Amino acid sequence: MLKKDFISILDFSKQEIIDLLTKAKELKALQKKIILQDPLKGKTLAMIFQKPSNRTRVSFEVGMYQLGGLAVNILPQEIEIGVRESIPAVAKTLSRFVDAIMLRVFKHKDLIEFCQNADVPVINGLSDLEHPCQALADILTIEEKKSNLETIKICYVGDGNNVCNSLIHIANLLNMEIVVACPKNYEPLNHEKFSNLTISHNPKEAVLNADVIYTDVWVSMGQEEETTKRTKDFQGFMVTKELISKAKKDCLFMHCLPAHPGFEVSEEVLNLPNSIIFDQAENRLHAQKAVLYYLLK
Ligand code: CP
Ligand code: NVA
Repeated sequence: MLKKDFISILDFSKQEIIDLLTKAKELKALQKKIILQDPLKGKTLAMIFQKPSNRTRVSFEVGMYQLGGLAVNILPQEIEIGVRESIPAVAKTLSRFVDAIMLRVFKHKDLIEFCQNADVPVINGLSDLEHPCQALADILTIEEKKSNLETIKICYVGDGNNVCNSLIHIANLLNMEIVVACPKNYEPLNHEKFSNLTISHNPKEAVLNADVIYTDVWVSMGQEEETTKRTKDFQGFMVTKELISKAKKDCLFMHCLPAHPGFEVSEEVLNLPNSIIFDQAENRLHAQKAVLYYLLK
């Protein structure tokens, strides 16, 4: 039997994503009632972070614990993946110790190489190209706030980056309209392939009639040397209260976090009543518990 992985939303069918969302809601409801269950008793997860993390790191560790399993965090300097040992050697070794492996990597192609060599399920905890765990949590959050996903218009303002790519993938699968407002040359990957996606270079036009405005940093981890150029290129793309006022009256504001107030978003917007950034963050836990359950149960 083929092992299951969670590398890209593109690897999943609409029904599989709906099933994951349903499981996430069920696990969240149980957790809120403090009904403790341990379906993953005895199961273990290794976590490898090549980049910093707050949400992903803590939510995976806590999620495994709440499901009755154990998460082991491996520091980059301990494992020195690709330096002390090759990617295949690390993948094959860890597969003998644990039941699943989560990685946050600089290069998506390293994640694929790791996945091809691992004998246990591999989870993408963010790569330069995709952030599928974030997208799953984001849709869970939108669904909690707005009933019918198919009538929702999401407007993503900013860099066509990993977070944006996965958001497009999941929105496409669930028949949600998505408009990406980005500067020229910062378009998301393969954007011409998605029928539900419109690219705009004008944020003020793009947000018209939006139910959700989403943004993420202009400079992702690993792009630090492009900071000056990017900061210049993204002028006019900050999500401000004025920009939000052009969308629907009850428009929600989302950000995967961490945010850089004064760059992609104003401080004021982060604190608006319609800002649901911490609901999003919380849902990382519930969505990933569903992923762990799906891969390991
Ligand atoms: N949104 C997100 O992935 O946060 P961390 O980088 O803190 O894990
Ligand atoms: N696009 C950001 C997301 C961080 C969660 C990055 O890759 O740094």
